Formats: sequence, C-alpha cells, structure tokens
Amino acid sequence: MDSSNIRLAVIPGDGIGIEVVTEGLKVLNAVGVKVETTEYDLGAKRYHATGEVLPDAVLDELRGYDAIVLGAVGDPSVPPGILERDLLLRLRFELDHYVNLRPVKLFPGVETPLGKSRPEDIDMVVVREGTEGLYAGAGGTLRRGTPHEIATQESLNTAFGVERVVRYAFEKAAQRPRRKLTLVHKTNVLTYAGDLWARTVARVSLDFPQVETDYCHIDAASMFFITQPERFDVIVTDNLFGDIITDIGAAVAGGIGLAASGNINPDRTAPSMFEPVHGSAPDIAGMGKADPTATILSIAMLLDHIGLAEDARKVEQAVADDLVERQGAWTARTTREIGDDIAARVAG
Ligand code: NAI
Ligand code: MG
Repeated sequence: MDSSNIRLAVIPGDGIGIEVVTEGLKVLNAVGVKVETTEYDLGAKRYHATGEVLPDAVLDELRGYDAIVLGAVGDPSVPPGILERDLLLRLRFELDHYVNLRPVKLFPGVETPLGKSRPEDIDMVVVREGTEGLYAGAGGTLRRGTPHEIATQESLNTAFGVERVVRYAFEKAAQRPRRKLTLVHKTNVLTYAGDLWARTVARVSLDFPQVETDYCHIDAASMFFITQPERFDVIVTDNLFGDIITDIGAAVAGGIGLAASGNINPDRTAPSMFEPVHGSAPDIAGMGKADPTATILSIAMLLDHIGLAEDARKVEQAVADDLVERQGAWTARTTREIGDDIAARVAG
C-alpha cells in the first residue's frame, strides 16, 4: 500500500456519527499525510429514501480502499437490528474483520468512576473475535408468535477462527511491556466452545514462551475490570463477551466518548474499518455535544494499521495533552471546538 496517499472510504452514518467523523478527518488532515476521501451515505437516511442498507455494488467498491472510517449507524426510526446486522455486522463479516481491537486505557487527568485507579492501572487491549460466535446469525425460530414458539441462537466457533484471533492476541501481547494474555470465557458452563478456546490458547502459547498466559471467567472478569483492572494486559475473548466487557472498559477508562476501536483484517485481504465504540446517540445528535475524542483515537489506530506509527503517536499525544487540560470540563467545549483544539496540537 502506498501510504503517501491514503484512499479512505468514509461512512459518517447517523446522528452524532456525522459530527464526530468531521472532527476525526480534521485531525487526520492536520497530521499532514495525503488522504483522498470518498463519502458513502449509508445509514438511516439512505434506508428511508431507497430501502437500501448496503448494496452489493457499494460493498464491492469498499473493498478497494486502504481503510474505512465509520461514525455510527442507528436511528429510532429504523426497526432495531436492520442497520446493525445488515450494515455493521455485514461489513465486519464480508471484509473479514476477525479482530475487533478495543484499547481500554485511562489517560492522565481523566476521571474514572474507580476513584483510586491510576493511568498505569488501566492500560489494556481487548482483542474481541469479530466474525463468529453468537453474532454469526446462526439459529432460527419455529411457531413464532405462538405459545409454542422456539427460538435458537447458536454460537459458532471454528478451530480456524479461534486460532487466528488467539494468535493475533499473542502477537500483540508479545509486543507490549507486560507480555500478558488473559483468555476471558465461560469454560465451566459453555463447555464445547470454551474447550476449543482453552485448548487453542494452550497450544498457541507454546509458540510464545515469553508471554504469560492467564484465564478468567467472563463474570469474574466483569468484576475485576472494576475492582482490579491492573490484572489485565491483553485480553482475548469471543464476540459477545468482548462486546459487553468493552462497554465496562469504556466506562472505567473515562466514558464512551473516549473509547476507540478498529475492526481489523490482519491478513489485509480487505480494508480494516475504524470507528468509535459508541452509537449514534440520538439524544444529543445535532447539538454539538458529542465528544469526538473516541473517533480521533480511532484515527490514530488507523494510522498505526497503515504503517504510520509515528503519526499515530502524534495524534495520541495531542489527545493526551488535550485531556490533561480538560480535567473533566470538556462539556464546556463543542464537538467542533474539541476537534479544532486537537487538530491544532497535531499541526503545531
Ligand atoms: P450510544 O452509544 O449511541 O449512546 C449511549 C449514551 O452515551 C447516550 O446517552 C449518548 O448521548 C452518550 N454518548 C454516546 N457517544 C457519545 C459521545 N461521543 N459524546 C458524548 N456522549 C456520548 O448508544 P445507544 O443510545 O444505545 O444507541 C443509539 C443508536 O446507536 C442505536 O440505534 C444503536 O443501535 C446504535 N449503535 C450503533 C453502533 C455503531 O454504529 N457502531 C454502536 C452502538 C449503538
Ligand atoms: Mg457494543
């Protein structure tokens, strides 16, 4: 990939997605890399206008970009599940985003509900599997709407799918100073899937003797995220557990307005997609109240992914400096003002 001219597909989406993506791109431009952006109007508006969610032709076009930036999709006017399943999940599955990477990091100066925690206590990365598990859409319904209704929702776990995400997580752990990997699952109850995950971690760990391996049940991990976040460095877990636990992570690391994520295709057979963890926040949409920081940190992850690590650090540092000055008072600034301030730090 020619990183001197990044071809970027941008899906602002709905609600605050549009507002935060504007600021994310502002910061990306301030970095000084050459970016060529193409905007795609997918989301609630397109759905209402044409009934389309993700036309096949658009999906094919998206495959041609270096990366994708997504704001958020979802609107109260669209029945739940349509945009989430047929747009977001479909993109993750079709583009084989088998790693959903979600850092949980407390920046200095940011308030955490865990009063006593310091930034060095909360610094982990959740590697969530992105293409299998309960989100694969397996299952069905019989006698729907009757007292005899049956609904099944199956968790799909393949040896191939588990191994590739576990290997990625070990590689990540090997690069971090603490070199610790924790498998989070529920092996005592979900015995078939849990067994596959546990055996895979045990086997792959032999290739990474320098990485300490640990295990934690999902319920205990949910507790430890709050009582002992310093236990964790890299976490590897399945699609559903990862979805839930990263919301806890976002809360302890200063709130959903700061939580970044990358839907990564490590094999680079399709573009990876970077997006804030939060949704379209209809309650504050259009009011300039959304914090664009999560999106800006997702842009830093994008820069990392395309090999511009130095630029990624520059953006992270600008965010860190901005956060120190906020001291919990960010609501005093609008979405645009926060974007302007961080972009100015990056450019300066
Ligand atoms: P949400 O994340 O949109 O909002 C939850 C709460 O956090 C709201 O009170 C909101 O105002 C606040 N919030 C979220 N982002 C913020 C930011 N950047 N700055 C300040 N406050 C922020 O989750 P919710 O309300 O459950 O979902 C709203 C819609 O978004 C739904 O349609 C849902 O399906 C969709 N959604 C989409 C996602 C995506 O596109 N990746 C992810 C999560 C939800
Ligand atoms: Mg979620």
